[in-house]
Amino acid sequence: MSTVIDGMLSAPAASEQELMELESKYCSWGDTVHYLEPPKFFERAEGHYLYDREGIPYMDLQMWYSASSFGYGNPRLNEALKNQIDKLPQLACQYLHSEKVELAAAIGRLNESRFGQAGRVHFNVGGAQAIEDSLKIVRNSTGKNLVFAFMGGYHGRTLGASAITSSYRYRRRFGHFSDRAHFVPFPYCFRCPYGKKPEDCELYCVDQFARNFETEYNSFWDAKAGESEFGAFYAEAIQATGGYVIPPAGYFPALKKVLDERNILLVDDEIQMGFYRAGKFWAIENFNVEPDIIVFGKALTNGLNPLSGLWAREGLISPDVFPPGSTHSTFSANPLGTAVGLEAVRMMEEENYEEITRRKGAYFLTQIRELQRRYPKVIGDTDGIGMALRIEICQEDGYEPDRELTERIFVEGMKGDLDARGRKTGLVLDIGGYYKNVFTLAPCFDMSEEEIDLAVELIEQLIRRCAPERI
Ligand SMILES: Cc1ncc(COP(=O)(O)O)c(C=O)c1O
Repeated sequence: MSTVIDGMLSAPAASEQELMELESKYCSWGDTVHYLEPPKFFERAEGHYLYDREGIPYMDLQMWYSASSFGYGNPRLNEALKNQIDKLPQLACQYLHSEKVELAAAIGRLNESRFGQAGRVHFNVGGAQAIEDSLKIVRNSTGKNLVFAFMGGYHGRTLGASAITSSYRYRRRFGHFSDRAHFVPFPYCFRCPYGKKPEDCELYCVDQFARNFETEYNSFWDAKAGESEFGAFYAEAIQATGGYVIPPAGYFPALKKVLDERNILLVDDEIQMGFYRAGKFWAIENFNVEPDIIVFGKALTNGLNPLSGLWAREGLISPDVFPPGSTHSTFSANPLGTAVGLEAVRMMEEENYEEITRRKGAYFLTQIRELQRRYPKVIGDTDGIGMALRIEICQEDGYEPDRELTERIFVEGMKGDLDARGRKTGLVLDIGGYYKNVFTLAPCFDMSEEEIDLAVELIEQLIRRCAPERI
């Protein structure tokens, strides 16, 4: 063994202090770890709890940004992974294995039944990589580099995905992104970008989008050629990182009508909201529109071996137009991922997750609405669909975002000293939203009503600790 590292590897497990010293010297800080200071170590995970090195449980209400919706250590999915390790653990992606084909067929058939469209599935590893693949399909089929995307939208951090992600912070230090999306306001009705009210706005925001194509001088449309400069519109049906923002019912059908008139594809990013997070297999199913491309990742493998992918209509992805070698990644369609993904999709077919997520989500939403009623000087808005829920933390007026209080509540939850009916506990929350003042709740689908009650009690303890002057 190398003399440089063998001392460390043969020594007893390092203390947390020693690990922190190594981390501060050898780990890149370019990821998101140091959002919390000091960063937190976890040792074990089970169900909807993470356990730190002292064994203190932390109830997790974000479940790895919805990647582990079916619970940490889900026995059925873990078993699928173990079986595959013993059977076919590795295989170069240029060869076939049955789980890949069956998983693609399952998703293809499901989409055929949902949207009445034949299509094919193309796998990759991470979400942003699948977004990149979808950009290639859009460019290949439309011949256009330019796309629309939503303000508040998030599609990942590779260069292509960053170019269509709304936050300038994610791009600022990395030079010019020439194919940056044109960003369009999302229907965030609590903070309507046009100052309208959903009761009587008549989807003014869609009208504003449609106006872009009224004349060539609005810059998007060549009326003589009957052609838009844009190939696709990238949308999350429910904005995830943007703060679990739910659009009004008529929005997507109205938007799709405009897109169809202009031959612009609708690419639906389901990476965070897919697989029942929003009460349906795909979140877009809540809105009565048929996308041309669906991109997915995260919960397909419950956060086990990563697997992402996309489904596209046959005309966009058939081998005639998207031939072998159009994209490639060594780990795409890896057999550990496809085996778990296939078992997860079987599980979703067998269990009624639509009923489960709608019933539990409605129960959770009632509880947080009650919290909002009791703490109007802290919570400005609550909303939810399926088990995707939001709590928007505001100043005393119930509207101005309170980023600082949101951060304080988050940090306090990570201290691990809340009282869970006599047991010392932490609470894992995730902050999202345009103003970083929204708790985006993605609870585990297995939580019982009693556990949801406990979660709400813990949130209340945090509010009372962090904003005593406003209760
Ligand atoms: C909606 C959405 N799209 C894309 C991504 C990027 O996925 P990944 O982090 O796996 O690259 C994410 C990740 O949070 C996401 O929420």
